[in-house]
Amino acid sequence: MENTAKKPCVVLGVTGGIAAYKACELLRLLQKRGIDVFVVMTKNACRFVAPLTFETLSGHPVATDTFERPATWEVEHIALAKRADLFVIAPATANVLGKLACGIADDMLTTTAMATRAPLLLAPAMNTGMWESAAVQQNVQTLRARGAHIVGPASGHLACGDSGAGKLEDVEVIAARAQALLSPKRDMEGLRVLVTAGPSREMIDPVRYLTNRSSGKMGYAVARAAQRRGAQVTLLSGPAALTPPADVTLVPFTTTQELLKQATALAPQMDVVVQAAAPADYRAEEVAKSKIKKRGGEALTLRLVENPDVAAAIGAGKRPGQVLVGFAAETDDVLTNAQAKLARKRLDLIVANDVTQPGAGFDVDTNIVTLITEADTRSLPLMSKDEAAERILDRAMALREERARKA
Ligand code: PMT
Repeated sequence: MENTAKKPCVVLGVTGGIAAYKACELLRLLQKRGIDVFVVMTKNACRFVAPLTFETLSGHPVATDTFERPATWEVEHIALAKRADLFVIAPATANVLGKLACGIADDMLTTTAMATRAPLLLAPAMNTGMWESAAVQQNVQTLRARGAHIVGPASGHLACGDSGAGKLEDVEVIAARAQALLSPKRDMEGLRVLVTAGPSREMIDPVRYLTNRSSGKMGYAVARAAQRRGAQVTLLSGPAALTPPADVTLVPFTTTQELLKQATALAPQMDVVVQAAAPADYRAEEVAKSKIKKRGGEALTLRLVENPDVAAAIGAGKRPGQVLVGFAAETDDVLTNAQAKLARKRLDLIVANDVTQPGAGFDVDTNIVTLITEADTRSLPLMSKDEAAERILDRAMALREERARKA
């Protein structure tokens, strides 16, 4: 019987580097995995490999130039952009990374990449010096922060004669990564997950408050990832200028005391609790009933009292089988302080971030985190908060499985 199920579609962008010939093998590997592949090439890519090669291998016309008369009535780059379940660019030159990072769309490949709503997987390939240049690294960081997935480059002997990082990642690895992105994990199906995010606000008087630099981005990324993986997510959010993910139950809080009340009420029903919020440790002992006035040069003393520790309260009521994840925002002795918090708050996993590092911590789209459990410590490189969220959930799920095996 004919299989009428629609195959997933990869639009494969090929740019002008010597590794362009490896894109032919990548195309075959994707097809072997049951994926339909459409190819779009830059002009320079056509100097390395003839479009006819990709046309023959893919069984589809190859798009190369926005000004060619389209074979169908559809605007071709838009049609390709809509068709894609995943957009892969392999090899991705320094030039195309720069264009994508800056929003330049001046040919078929870059206009398609800009128009698509599909996830973007980039496999950079270039000379080591180019790869390590500040411009390329910054562009990669920008693209990562916008949610692009980067695979490679690998290190080795390069076509230009140099040795080092810049080689196109093994095409098997690229194909595996593409497939993983096409069929995202649903390993949290049916689990109830509570995520806390954002800052607290501790009122001083009716118009002023104490707060911190948390934007909520890290917590929202965890909530999105858990929801994508099939979990039923409740997001306890402090004031944040972010759009909450669809299909997530949003419970707002303002003060740490409100967070304590909501979180301790919700936590007992949860399978996994991830506490990325930054609740203030102190609040004003007394909130002035009316706006505090200046005192003609006299200093104002505010007396602060300690707020409750929400994570410690949830830890004290931990159910068997529950996985509790906390964060540690540190400026010094990062690992030692985080380890102490792991034990004190009865957490199973603590995500340490050194908030003094560029690209890490508060109000940026990336983070550099170390995942600490009682058993081990795993440091991850700079990555988007979305990617970090996936890695945190991977670790939390592995801990859950370990527990289940031991029980
Ligand atoms: O929101 P973003 O701009 O994306 O920034 C992300 C982040 C830096 C806020 C996030 O990655 C992070 O580190 N969150 C924890 C911030 C924090 O309060 O760290 P802490 O080391 O003070 O607290 C340790 C843990 O105890 C945290 O899980 C925190 O939620 C919790 N806590 C802290 C204080 C308190 N009174 N009650 C708590 O439950």
